[in-house]
Amino acid sequence: MGQAYSCITCFPSSSLSKDPRHLQRQHNIPDLEMNDSGSPTFLPLSPCATPTTTTTATSTPNSVARIPANLLNHTLDQPTQWLQLSPEISYNQNYSPLEMALSRQHRGSGFDVPGAVHSVTTPRLDKEMQTDAKLVIIMVGLPARGKSYIVKKLRRYLNWLQYETKVFNVGNLRRECESEHEQSAKFFDPDNAELKGIRDKLALDVLENLIKWLKDGGRVAIHDATNSTIERRALLLKRLRQEPQIRVLLLESLCTDERILERNFRLKLLGPDYRNRPAAEALADFKSRVANYEKAYQPIGDWEEERDIQYCKLINVGKKVIACNISGYLSGQCVFYLMNFNLAERQIFLTRHGQSTDNVTGHIGGDADLSPSGKKYAEALSKFIKEQRVQFALDLVHEQHEREEIWKSKGLEPLEKTDGARTPEELMKAKAEAVCNSQFIVWTSMLKRAMSTAAYFDPDEYDIKHIRFLNEINASICEGMTYEEISNVYPDEYNMRKQNKLFYRYPGIGGESYMDVIHRTQSMIIELERMSQSCLIITHRVVMRILLGYLTDMSQKEMPHMDVPMHTVFEVRPKPYGNEILKWRYIEHLDKFVQDH
Ligand code: F6P
Repeated sequence: MGQAYSCITCFPSSSLSKDPRHLQRQHNIPDLEMNDSGSPTFLPLSPCATPTTTTTATSTPNSVARIPANLLNHTLDQPTQWLQLSPEISYNQNYSPLEMALSRQHRGSGFDVPGAVHSVTTPRLDKEMQTDAKLVIIMVGLPARGKSYIVKKLRRYLNWLQYETKVFNVGNLRRECESEHEQSAKFFDPDNAELKGIRDKLALDVLENLIKWLKDGGRVAIHDATNSTIERRALLLKRLRQEPQIRVLLLESLCTDERILERNFRLKLLGPDYRNRPAAEALADFKSRVANYEKAYQPIGDWEEERDIQYCKLINVGKKVIACNISGYLSGQCVFYLMNFNLAERQIFLTRHGQSTDNVTGHIGGDADLSPSGKKYAEALSKFIKEQRVQFALDLVHEQHEREEIWKSKGLEPLEKTDGARTPEELMKAKAEAVCNSQFIVWTSMLKRAMSTAAYFDPDEYDIKHIRFLNEINASICEGMTYEEISNVYPDEYNMRKQNKLFYRYPGIGGESYMDVIHRTQSMIIELERMSQSCLIITHRVVMRILLGYLTDMSQKEMPHMDVPMHTVFEVRPKPYGNEILKWRYIEHLDKFVQDH
């Protein structure tokens, strides 16, 4: 038999879900199509869409494993059917390596977490060919829809989870290669076949670079361009079809909020295409470039759905999210992340707990309480945070005022319109008061030294939570020892950790690695991105490095060695162009915080 069938089944007419595509997705059944009589048929496992043969639900392959349908009872209300799988395909029959890889690709869930999941492969199966081994995210959307902002964040998150991720921006290549063409709105005219050809070529060239990078070991590559027509997307998808180990996710950013749009348009005036042109002229040119794209714009929709292409649409930077056909672990992770962020201006403070009695003696781990110096820090911390909240409100008002002055000097209308009843000054004051009085969250670990550091925060004023995920790394058999003792008693362990701190896991019950701590703090990052309030996180050295590693986009090599001294507060202010980081050191004898530059 020359075909590899991954799965053959019948769907009862009384099935709870009448739509076989729904069942197909629920049970990860590949390539199901309906034949003329309405029964599902199955395509052979071929990377290309045109099958030479199809089989109907009544066909049976040579060797099948039978799984009782009661495993599927939640979807089949008459458990009389059998789901038949053929797990032996890869081993027993005469398939080419490509067919075997594809059979795995279609059957696997792609669940892979660096440092926590080990996939068992056969010597005959190329490890790189597992489902979801590589992911290409193709961005779609008109200019100024926040695409670059979204891809930067997504790249940072995936890299933090240790999936090597890179953004390939077509605009940058355009600016490098096409400087001889005037890069004005005319260049983007969809009716000019020659210029359209140049832009398509640029997009394909970037795709080639991206594929090469993935083949050299990268994991997730993001194609950052407008890709705003079906024709363009089909061009990219056709090329990617030749790479069976690569999965594709289309990610569209739409924006209907006029205020966000106008702000994005103006940010473009400060960017590389327009920086040196008079503002009013540049704004008019950019709006006409957008209008050119709008003429030909085809949002993701039926064309993609008919082809079962997985996609996600983000509307107004994540306010509304539509996900379709999402299959594969990595794509699911991306969509979940994208569902959880917002553009609120806020402060995120991070600090280690105040000095503990174990810190004084150099013992790691444990659950000691604060030393006298640690208690002093705790008291000073609550006063400092209060002052910084007021300062932040003033800074926001000041920044907004400065921005308006820039627009004014460029001859543009103010961005923040007055509401008629109040002057701009009154509006700014109201904003400052609102920021000052907004809810503020305090998170600590569940260890004594962290909870005691939050003791001076009034629960009537602050929303305080103690969270186990923020506990320090568990050093298991090394808990309570000094580093010197560890190097004497467990010299091999000591050296192994030195060589690869990120993946090294302390031996013994509950022992953890940095990677383990990344996984347990993943939900903290998602929550941090989801919430719009300011917050203070009081935690420990490893967790600080990991959270700051995410917030400052630090490489995996640097992150486990980052300097996070005691009695130091890091303040993060999320901005449209990235996070701003401020660092404050507590000077005990002066009982005050000073900024570290
Ligand atoms: O010494 C304080 C501490 O938080 C220990 O509890 C923890 O094991 C250690 O720092 C982690 O730092 P590193 O990963 O550099 O050993």
